Amino acid sequence: MSVDLRTQYLGLELKNPLVASACPLTESFDNQRRLEDAGAAAIVMPSLFEEQILQEESNFTGVHEFGTNSFAEALSYFPEPEEYRVSTEEYLDRIQAAKRGLTIPVIASLNGTSLGGWLRYAKLIEEAGADALELNIYFVAADVEMSGEEVERRYLDLVQAVASSVSIPVAVKIGPYFSSVGHMARQLVDAGAKGLVLFNRFLQPDIRLDTLDTRPHLVLSTEFELLLPLRWIAVLYGRVNASLALTSGVHSAHGAIKGLLAGADVVMMASALYKQGLSCVGAMIEQMKLWMEENDYHSVSQMKGSMSHRNSPDPTAFERGNYMKALASFTGTPI
Ligand SMILES: Cc1cc2nc3c(=O)[nH]c(=O)nc-3n(C[C@H](O)[C@H](O)[C@H](O)COP(=O)(O)O)c2cc1C
Repeated sequence: MSVDLRTQYLGLELKNPLVASACPLTESFDNQRRLEDAGAAAIVMPSLFEEQILQEESNFTGVHEFGTNSFAEALSYFPEPEEYRVSTEEYLDRIQAAKRGLTIPVIASLNGTSLGGWLRYAKLIEEAGADALELNIYFVAADVEMSGEEVERRYLDLVQAVASSVSIPVAVKIGPYFSSVGHMARQLVDAGAKGLVLFNRFLQPDIRLDTLDTRPHLVLSTEFELLLPLRWIAVLYGRVNASLALTSGVHSAHGAIKGLLAGADVVMMASALYKQGLSCVGAMIEQMKLWMEENDYHSVSQMKGSMSHRNSPDPTAFERGNYMKALASFTGTPI
């Protein structure tokens, strides 16, 4: 039996549901080509950051044109331009090169939290030929005066501004820390998101005891982290009018299959590419096919959402019931 791995994401026809997630590995054309050869169905390029764009522009125009000293001070916390991986101009060139040399779709990524002078980059990214744009809203609401409603408004205004400035589809990558993830998801779609990418992994700062300072701490994910996006993809499947991408914790064909059964249109991988190498995509595709054959699935579309909250034989497993069952069945004893 041959299985049909095709899927649709953001209106794009993909040959399979495995997408290389935004990270430095998708930056060079050499790696992009290797990912395509390994079987990746699309790539998401690493993000262009709001701060980077503003910083580069301030170097041209003089930082005072942005108005406040606090802006200049804020910028001083970010890396110097030469520490960024690529300049904004080079980023746009890389999109063009990827589009010239690859056959798979190329999704660019913008990372920002405010309505700044950087928004025109969405248009430039579109003009450079990107098939879609992923907007990573990496906002840590550390201001205790800011209400949940204000935080949500910030997201929605940003999505609305970006989505209305381009005609390519815009996917929004969010974190899990909303009091109502489902309601927020719907609002994002109403604001113009054609896809939702669940979830951002927020970096947690660590305190160094020897130097008594804080350091940003990037660790690659583990397979266990799949469970958080898995639950919310399952809950959102069939309830939002948008594509769903699962990111965080996909390290194997089994992880990818679970994502699809929950309801994802695609699954994205970054940590697995670092840990297992770019060629792991090919092996995962073969393992997925095998699993589908053994379990009588003919196509990815047949699998999609069959274990979602809506279709699951036990929907309470995605809710509070799961917690009680887990506690009741826990048999751990202290060492
Ligand atoms: C080294 C590294 C760099 C990353 N850079 C970006 C980025 O530029 N933009 C972005 O949206 N996500 C970025 N991510 C997040 C990944 O795209 C992905 O969402 C996250 O790592 C969870 O997926 P994983 O479990 O497959 O790693 C980065 C991840 C890693 C490990």
